[in-house]
Amino acid sequence: MKLIICISLALLALLVDAKDAAKETVSKHGQLSVKGANLVNKNGEIVQLKGMALYWSQWMPQYWNKDTIDGIHDSCHSNVVRASMAVDDGQGGGYLFDPDTQMQRVETVIEAAIADDLYIIVDWHEEKADTHQAQAVDFFSKISKKYGKHPNILYETFNEPTDQSWSSTLKPYHEAVIKAIRANDPNNIIIVGTAQWSQRVDEPADDPIKGTNIMYTLHFYAGTHKQWLRDLAQGAIDKGLPIFVTEYGTDNVDVVNQVDEEESKLWWAWLDKNNLSYTNWAICDANEASAALIANTPANKVCQADYLTLSGKLVVEQNKK
Ligand SMILES: *[C@@H]1O[C@H](CO)[C@@H](O)[C@H](O)[C@H]1NC(C)=O
Repeated sequence: MKLIICISLALLALLVDAKDAAKETVSKHGQLSVKGANLVNKNGEIVQLKGMALYWSQWMPQYWNKDTIDGIHDSCHSNVVRASMAVDDGQGGGYLFDPDTQMQRVETVIEAAIADDLYIIVDWHEEKADTHQAQAVDFFSKISKKYGKHPNILYETFNEPTDQSWSSTLKPYHEAVIKAIRANDPNNIIIVGTAQWSQRVDEPADDPIKGTNIMYTLHFYAGTHKQWLRDLAQGAIDKGLPIFVTEYGTDNVDVVNQVDEEESKLWWAWLDKNNLSYTNWAICDANEASAALIANTPANKVCQADYLTLSGKLVVEQNKK
């Protein structure tokens, strides 16, 4: 009997300690905001979002639906999903080319995320957004008007800038989009992209945007971007910059397309130490090491054990911690 009680208590302690992201959802944490460099919940307590990014909306529409969002919560153990909406018409039918189809996909997953108690990042997924500022302003104006009253929503204004100047190009672009969002939504988090595929968080650390609840994007692929990028990001955090990792892969994106488990673990340890939030690239079944799903995974099996790749298994385990 004593033994049973001891074991039960030990199990209970484990359950209490574990931070399964699937249990840390919107009904518990409510309205998010930024305090210092941290993301905090409705009570001002530090909160960590952990979840999955959907793959390019024009190439994997089979995962832009409610079944997938259910799976992202229940089986990927997430409290957040990122809707990576393709923009450029040079990429096979993004928002600039077919706004109605793309808007419909985005609204479908926003409404599913709200129904499933998940946070959702609405991502303008391209590299040249500064050349489509008017369209971005219009898009985010519509999204914030329709959904800004829900604490579920986060906005990501520009996925991955490349070699644009932070101070003279990126910052003014973000300010224009932020102004449009804030006209409808005074509170929800806005995450802004940084130069060099969202690695150069050191630049806004020295020249931040004025405003409330603004965070800055950091992206990495574990096998390619290593300690040097963690050092650069740590420097920005130490200066008080709030960072959100809206995209990361467990793999190497150079010549070798394979999972780097050891380096992924170093990244997760660093992210968790800094209480940073992160969404994994990606919910897709493409022949890429970073894909979470095996080939031909149906939407209603997303993240179920038999359908996970090596990367998917590691990520789901991490989301449960
Ligand atoms: C991370 O969050 C925990 C719990 O709120 C807190 O004790 C710790 O100081 C935070 N770490 C950093 C680096 O802010």
